[in-house]
Amino acid sequence: MIPAKDIEKIKETARIEEVVGDYVQLRNRGSNKLGLCPFHNEKTPSFTVSPAKGIYKCFGCGKSGNSISFVMEHEQLSFPEALRQLAKKYNIELNEVQSEEAKAQRNLFESLYIINKFVQKYYSKNMLESDEGRSVGLSYFKSRGFLDVNIEKFQLGYSMDSFDHLIKAASAGKYNEDYLIKLGLIGNKNNRKYDFFRGRVMFPIHNLSGKVIAFAGRTLSSDKKVPKYVNSPESEVYYKSKILYGAYQAKSSISKLDNCYLVEGYTDVISMHQAGIENVVASSGTSLTKDQIQLIKRFTKNVTVLYDGDMAGINAAIRGTDMILEADMNVRVVLLPDGEDPDSFVQAKGAEGFSEFVQTEGKDFVFFKTKLLLEQSEGDPVKKTALIRSIVETLARIPDPIKRSLYIRECSQLLKISEQIIINETNKVKRKKVDAYNSEREKTVSAPISNSPSNPPNFPNPDIASGKTVPIPDYQAATPENRFDKQIHKLEFEFVELFLNHSEKPIAGVSSLQWTFNELEEVGLNFQHPICIKVVDLFKEKLSAGEIATDKFFLEHEDNEIMKFCSNILLNQQEVSANWAKMYQIPVKQDGASYKDRFVNLVGRFKLVHIQKLVDENQERIKNTSDPEEMGKCLQIHQTLLKYQNDLSKELGSVIIR
Ligand code: GTP
Ligand code: MN
Repeated sequence: MIPAKDIEKIKETARIEEVVGDYVQLRNRGSNKLGLCPFHNEKTPSFTVSPAKGIYKCFGCGKSGNSISFVMEHEQLSFPEALRQLAKKYNIELNEVQSEEAKAQRNLFESLYIINKFVQKYYSKNMLESDEGRSVGLSYFKSRGFLDVNIEKFQLGYSMDSFDHLIKAASAGKYNEDYLIKLGLIGNKNNRKYDFFRGRVMFPIHNLSGKVIAFAGRTLSSDKKVPKYVNSPESEVYYKSKILYGAYQAKSSISKLDNCYLVEGYTDVISMHQAGIENVVASSGTSLTKDQIQLIKRFTKNVTVLYDGDMAGINAAIRGTDMILEADMNVRVVLLPDGEDPDSFVQAKGAEGFSEFVQTEGKDFVFFKTKLLLEQSEGDPVKKTALIRSIVETLARIPDPIKRSLYIRECSQLLKISEQIIINETNKVKRKKVDAYNSEREKTVSAPISNSPSNPPNFPNPDIASGKTVPIPDYQAATPENRFDKQIHKLEFEFVELFLNHSEKPIAGVSSLQWTFNELEEVGLNFQHPICIKVVDLFKEKLSAGEIATDKFFLEHEDNEIMKFCSNILLNQQEVSANWAKMYQIPVKQDGASYKDRFVNLVGRFKLVHIQKLVDENQERIKNTSDPEEMGKCLQIHQTLLKYQNDLSKELGSVIIR
């Protein structure tokens, strides 16, 4: 836990224009600053920073927030990680309170990171400064066409062909041998210690914050009995199934381009970078895991799988891919010409040739699989049945019903089978999955908790466990029930804007906040938009404690949704009221109007829309009833509502446009 006091200090110190300015070139525009959005590709700047309010918003992609959320988003860090990073930048000392256990674990992590960093530097130094390293390691990478910049970027190195070269270096540097053993860098058999990696070129494996967590070493021997690649064993900081090679170097490019290339090998990743294609990660030869898919999904929903065009490559492409579909991601497949891997292909064709190939040869995975199996089962009814089963399995994994039905239509045409049959079969598979899930759940629910395997694991890797990006909800699209709700939502946003800007100023002897709540309560009106309810509840909560929540409170709120919504509202205010003026033909006196007028006016308009909604509902009832008694009642209600409506609109001095 980082104490609130420290968080406060970080928020005060980390000025938004400075934090953003580290990554984005900003130019002055009025009281704001403007630059090219780092979160999506654009040619004309729409990324706006308000130094006065401490927030940013991109009018292109809609991303918004404060300096902490900027760091979280840009670096893909969790809240505490972002705080730590900012604290470091501004030399703010954190007094983190931690349980002894958490402290010990953090110390362990930190020690392991320190050791890995030392060893990475050591391998690099071997390669660049020793005769053996230069003539064996460096010359190998050079022969593969790797440039110095990328050797540096991926921190490549070389492990000496010796049983104790690392052991000696570690002991000279006073590094704790136990930790090196824990990380598998030093082997320990029958109390005899030895360097684990020997005479191999070394690829450090990084976590998402760029810390080295493990190594892969490639042999330079052509002896088939020697494994080509050897990896560090799993450790407290390295869980194979949660890591993708190159993710750290790729993450910002993946979000920016909204696509991720998935390749198999270490060298594929590096060669693609060399060609300027940076949105690429490697599964390192194993089949993809759920965690790895989630890792990609933090940055994009679109995956392009690149595989060899041989049978092994094709099968590999098909294997992991159903799982990506299941995660509601879009998958394209590109098969490279037989015998080529992305490394050789991109080196031969260059970036342009590569992109062109991907453009023309890339296929949607579902169709790719269908066509492929179709070819293989030509003229063989038994095989074709199996094919349909397999396709149906794939289709059943697509969570989005609209997407699924589109695929079903296409596949039915490809397979020449009626759509209905595929739908039925797909539903059967889905039902089976649901049943399996339910019976599994029953088992775990009835099992005694103490030895239940479903207890959440204590995530060993803090960088993976944390930092889920919060999706930005589409506020405008909160499924309004009817046309009035849409207007009501708009007004509620306007309320939030007024509250954020003027809540503490007085109206009729109380705060304008209190005044508004009183006015609305009197006629029994509540907010209905979920995010507005959240914000208003927070205002009310504070109010009942005798305090008035400030815009600062919301802009720095830990709930990302609230924070983003409020910063959106604050940077958007002109837009909201211009819309209003147009829709209601009410001259909304934005700039000149006093806050008091705006509150009174808004409460009036809010009541008015609600009345109009009631009128509308009542008229529906009149239309649909044949009971004369109810009809009479409704007509009476109608009269009363119209009277309210007239009075109110007179008060507001406006014409009502319906
Ligand atoms: P180069 O032969 O240097 O081009 O390497 P590559 O990365 O292209 O290797 P390859 O295409 O043979 O294999 C793809 C990936 O599978 C590698 O990057 C490794 O992650 C993994 N892999 C290949 N061989 C081995 C092995 O013997 N052991 C382990 N653990 N992984 C391997
Ligand atoms: Mn290769």
